[in-house]
Amino acid sequence: MSKVNELGTAKLTYEDKSIDLPVFVGSEQEAAVDIRALRKETGMITYDPGFVNTGCCLSDITFIDGEKGILRYRGYDINDLAEKCEFIDVAYLLVHGVLPNKEQHDEFSQHLNTHSLMHEDMRHFFDAYPDHAHPMATLSAMAVSLSTFYPELDDVSLQENIDFKVTRLLSKMRTAAAFAYKKSIGHPIVYPSHDLKYCENFLNMMFHTPVNNYQVDPVVTKALNKLLILHADHEQNCSASVVKMVGSAGANLYASISAGICALWGPLHGGANQHVIEMLERIIVEDKGDVKRVIERAKDKNDPFRLMGVGHRVYKSYDPRAKVAKQMCKDVLAQMGVSDPLVDLAQEVEEAVLADDYFVSRGLYPNIDFYTGLTYRAMGIPTNMFTVMFAIGRIPGWIAQWLEMRDDPHGRIGRPRQIYTGPTQRSMS
Ligand code: SDX
Repeated sequence: MSKVNELGTAKLTYEDKSIDLPVFVGSEQEAAVDIRALRKETGMITYDPGFVNTGCCLSDITFIDGEKGILRYRGYDINDLAEKCEFIDVAYLLVHGVLPNKEQHDEFSQHLNTHSLMHEDMRHFFDAYPDHAHPMATLSAMAVSLSTFYPELDDVSLQENIDFKVTRLLSKMRTAAAFAYKKSIGHPIVYPSHDLKYCENFLNMMFHTPVNNYQVDPVVTKALNKLLILHADHEQNCSASVVKMVGSAGANLYASISAGICALWGPLHGGANQHVIEMLERIIVEDKGDVKRVIERAKDKNDPFRLMGVGHRVYKSYDPRAKVAKQMCKDVLAQMGVSDPLVDLAQEVEEAVLADDYFVSRGLYPNIDFYTGLTYRAMGIPTNMFTVMFAIGRIPGWIAQWLEMRDDPHGRIGRPRQIYTGPTQRSMS
């Protein structure tokens, strides 16, 4: 493996068996034991529910240091990218490995606009859904349906086909999200405009109506760009792993992304941003603002309740994205001249978490979902659209991870093993 530095071997000894397993490190000195020969040499497998200790690949895309709270896309720190870039620059960086120059930025922006319309027959899909349909369900259906409306083109190269898919997914999923919202509130849909850039177009499609002469607010546009950048990738998270697992079977990119959208919908994953708001609202309505009760419930092993927006598989320190989102939430509210009692309550919950050894001893801190929903709320985006916003932001990361999986020389169809614990052979007679 050309991309790693071999450090020697780790000896595994069991009964009369012993095996030397190669140990290597990546570019950030993360060390791994290569167990690819384990079963063949020993007949044994490893056991690691949730893949807490298991690496599935070598990757050049995103680096996370969970102890130090570091997040970098292609080597660039998340704070720099959120401050200095537009979302489409970061999408380009994740997919192509480099930030676009001005010419590449303008061309990419133009392509996104060119592909922003959805096929009119797809637009009618929305008419078939009930108004209360969760937009994550429609978004996933739209993603996989793109493969029927835009099949592979035989007369262009594989790379051009991929470039078309990347642009269609980034642009049309954003359009589909806005259409789903309009359908849910019974408003006429607003088509994308050629004159607006990626985030402005989304806001216009969401909030323009024939009677409000909506003007896109630059404060909200800047906040949306930052939020989408914060969500753009996060290495081998649950939904990215699903996208790669589906792609490893040879399924097309649209189908893989559709599966990733469904995984992200889960309340333990991207669905947490919606559940944070619902949790804060419940504290006000049911607990009369008593934070202590919700903290005690979260610590009670007999209570399945989890503190939404807190804890992370990798970050055992403050999620760097949560820091940016917290400040952005305050900035957006201040610049829009609005206040939200849920923000004060969220800070009270955060202070209680940071002061409680149950959380600190387990490395449980606010994650990206703790403050992002409050910022979307300040921007006028409804709660059931929060996870959709997460999905729109994560599309470039899912695509980059899928492309890297497809081009991986060590790549194979994903197929974990198990240890069987069921009944041994028994007769039917
Ligand atoms: C995302 O992986 C990614 O990168 C995901 C993501 C991305 O960008 O793709 O960052 C996005 O999914 C963020 C996480 C959003 N989910 C939530 O906010 C839901 C609440 N959080 C938890 O459900 C939990 O923290 C997870 C799911 C995020 C992580 O679960 P793990 O790694 O499996 O941790 P665990 O369940 O093994 O918990 C370790 C301990 C346990 O206690 P003990 O058994 O040690 O006594 O911490 C406790 C847990 O009970 N714990 C919590 C808790 N989270 C963990 N206790 C109370 N409230 C919580 N939120």
